Amino acid sequence: MTVLSMTTRPLADEAPRAQTAQPMVRFRDVCKSYGSFTVLNHLDLEVGANEKVAIIGPSGSGKSTLLRALMTLESIDSGVIEVDGDPLTHQLRNGEPVRASEAHVRRVRGKIGMVFQSFNLFPHMSALKNVMEAPVQVLGMRRDEARERAVELLEMVGLGNKLEHYPSQLSGGQQQRVAIARALAMRPKVMLFDEVTSALDPELCGEVLNVVRRLGTEHNLTMLMVTHQMGFAREFADRVCFFHQGNILEQGTPEQLFGHPQHERTRCFLSAVNEAS
Ligand SMILES: Nc1ncnc2c1ncn2[C@@H]1O[C@H](COP(=O)(O)OP(=O)(O)O)[C@@H](O)[C@H]1O
Ligand SMILES: [Mg+2]
Repeated sequence: MTVLSMTTRPLADEAPRAQTAQPMVRFRDVCKSYGSFTVLNHLDLEVGANEKVAIIGPSGSGKSTLLRALMTLESIDSGVIEVDGDPLTHQLRNGEPVRASEAHVRRVRGKIGMVFQSFNLFPHMSALKNVMEAPVQVLGMRRDEARERAVELLEMVGLGNKLEHYPSQLSGGQQQRVAIARALAMRPKVMLFDEVTSALDPELCGEVLNVVRRLGTEHNLTMLMVTHQMGFAREFADRVCFFHQGNILEQGTPEQLFGHPQHERTRCFLSAVNEAS
C-alpha cells in the first residue's frame, strides 16, 4: 500500500462554509435524450457542500451522462443544473434568464473537476507537465507557482518520485493518480469520478481508492462518484443513489440502501453485483 505524503495546504480555496441550505450541485427536472432514447428522465438531485455521493446502477442508466452534463461535456434538453447557486447554462440579466455566455459557463464549470475511467493524460507530457499545464494555460498561473503546486499534488497522491515519468512509464494506478492530481490542480470545489478504477487490474484499485478516500476525509470537497465498487461506496459515501432508466429510483445512507433496499429492482441489481464480485 502506498504511503502518501501529507500536504498541509488546502486543495481548494476553502472559505468557511456558509450555514445555508444552498446545495453545491443541483439538478432540477433535467431531461436529456438521444433521439427517441431518454437518458436523463426528469432528474432531480441535490448535493450539499462537502457531501460524498455514490451513484450506482446498471450500465446504460445515465450515470456517466449525469456527470458529463455537470461538466458541460453534454448539453441537456431541459431543466436546470446549478453549481454553488449559479445555473450552468443560464444567467440572469435584469432578473430574466438568458443563455449563459461562454465566460459564465467557464467560470461555473471551473468549480468542477472530473476524473474518467480512461485516464486521458497527455501522452507526450511528463506527470509534472500534465498537472501543471491547465493552471498555466487556463488560469494564467505563473509557471514556477504551477510547478510548485503540481509537485505538492503529485506528492500528495504518492508520486513525488515520478515527476518526470511519462504516462507510458507509469502503471494504470499511477496514471489515474496523476489524473486526480491534474483535476485538483484547478482547485475545484466539486470532484466527479466516473468509474475511476474500472480500467485497472484489481491490485491497482486500492492505491487509487486510497487517494480518493484521503481527499474525502481531509479536504472540503463535494464528491460525486459513479462506481461499481460497492464496498467502497458503502464505507465512503454519505449517500448512495441507485440510478435506473435516467432517474434515481432509490437513495439513502449506505446502511439504508445496501442493508434495506426498498425496490425489487435495487435488490436485483445488488444481488447481481454481489454474485459477480
Ligand atoms: N453520444 C451518444 N449518442 C447516443 N447514445 C448515447 C450517447 N452517449 C450515451 N448514449 C446512450 O445513453 C445511455 C446512457 O449512457 P451512460 O450515461 O453512459 O450510462 P451509464 O454510465 O449509466 O452506463 C446508453 O445506453 C448509451 O448507449
Ligand atoms: Mg458510464
